[in-house]
Amino acid sequence: MDDQVFVLFGGSGDLAKRKIIPALYNLYLGGKMPSRFAVLGLSRKPLPRAAYQEFIVNSLKEFSRHKIHSADEVEKFASHVYYLPFDASQPEQYSTLNETVRSIEQENDLPQNRIFYLSMAPDLFDEVALNLKAGGLTDTSGWRRLIIEKPFGHDLASATLLNERISSAFAEHEVYRIDHYLGKEMVQNIEVLRFANSIFEPLWNSHYIANVQITSSELVGVEDRASYYEHAGALRDMVQNHMLQMLMMVAMEPPSRLNTEAIRDEKVKVLRSLRKFTQEDMTKYVVRGQYIPGKMDGQHVLGYLNEPGIDAHSNTETFVAAKLFVDNFRWAGVPFYIRTGKRLDAKTTKIVIEFKGTPERLYFNQDGQLKTNLLTIQVNPSEGISMRLNAKSPEKDGVVLPISIDFSQETKDLPEAYERLIFDAMRDDPTFFTRWDEVSLAWKWIEPVLEAFAEDQPLFPYIAGSAGPKEASELLRADGFKWW
Ligand code: BG6
Repeated sequence: MDDQVFVLFGGSGDLAKRKIIPALYNLYLGGKMPSRFAVLGLSRKPLPRAAYQEFIVNSLKEFSRHKIHSADEVEKFASHVYYLPFDASQPEQYSTLNETVRSIEQENDLPQNRIFYLSMAPDLFDEVALNLKAGGLTDTSGWRRLIIEKPFGHDLASATLLNERISSAFAEHEVYRIDHYLGKEMVQNIEVLRFANSIFEPLWNSHYIANVQITSSELVGVEDRASYYEHAGALRDMVQNHMLQMLMMVAMEPPSRLNTEAIRDEKVKVLRSLRKFTQEDMTKYVVRGQYIPGKMDGQHVLGYLNEPGIDAHSNTETFVAAKLFVDNFRWAGVPFYIRTGKRLDAKTTKIVIEFKGTPERLYFNQDGQLKTNLLTIQVNPSEGISMRLNAKSPEKDGVVLPISIDFSQETKDLPEAYERLIFDAMRDDPTFFTRWDEVSLAWKWIEPVLEAFAEDQPLFPYIAGSAGPKEASELLRADGFKWW
């Protein structure tokens, strides 16, 4: 990997503290950082370098995946860390930033390879990109890369404008748009599971698959993110990005080669095949909800409308379920059900592939006793795969029972999503980042849903700690299915 400088905007923020700094440290421990590197943290706080290094050490004590056993190791890592008090909205400060980066490069004998990680308010993304260019920071003898957190715009028009502005400073191949779901072990594993096992590909289509269910449910509510969430809602926060990304990984065709662009091309084709909802479909195929007060773990929890910072009449959804169709030869007629929400009864992300049943009245199915085969990809919090099959009961003749074959990664100490993604960005592998056409097509597809939500799409209440509004179950019941 090339030697480089990692410039972290929002260097003292929550994401930096919980995810980015621990990811860098764990890469360092794993011998995955370049032989020479420096991290430059930026934030408005007027801290001396030593105080920032102390902040780093404290963050690692609290959030590092590898517990800290030796003060030496963590101090060695912190010695690579620099700090500059910096206000990203002030263009005149970028020349100081440029000088600081140059002097760090000289001090450490580094080539001018620079990563700029924007862990900050999204309304500053384009301004920062343009200021980096104007301040001469993109004018390097080496390479430069920009890592951007979500949300990338709040609709198609704003995302397009943002992209236009960013692309006047960075080329598409230099822009790494993060969707942290793409860094998850089991999301990356979908591709391997599908294309490294000859048993799945012949069955992976509408002839054998009855439906696909993608769930990402959370226990937490809106937490302290009211001002962001009120404008995002579950549709922008989870569906436009994470849920569609998982759907693409399940539905894509085998790429011609296992390389970045070939994989991304196939993912984009799924988005192109995604059926657009008409106004009539909207109430038939999309269910949205908002949590009301309930009990979780024996504790009373607030409803969304009572959460601090939330408008008492808010129309923002905290739950979305929908039935989608991928209109291509492979998937014609197969419903893809997705659902995501906050304050539900479990923290789980999983993908269930439900296969079609055996013919009725045949062999062991005479009483309709056979269960359908299920392939479950458990993404979060545990990571694994299980397959439900039918087998003979060892005790009772003529009785067939469902059995489960399970594989679990649980005992393994796996790298976190941010670790994988930052590592990929540092070594120039954008496969698990989102390309602009993916982002724009996702916005395009979701646009009519956004419009319906802003107008008269019903908003169903569900009790905090429940499985979501009952209407989400009706969506499947109408097709003879149920959520797994
Ligand atoms: C983020 C959303 O992208 O993903 C959050 O903004 C959500 O609202 C989070 O809580 C869920 O991520 P994970 O990895 O916990 O499933």
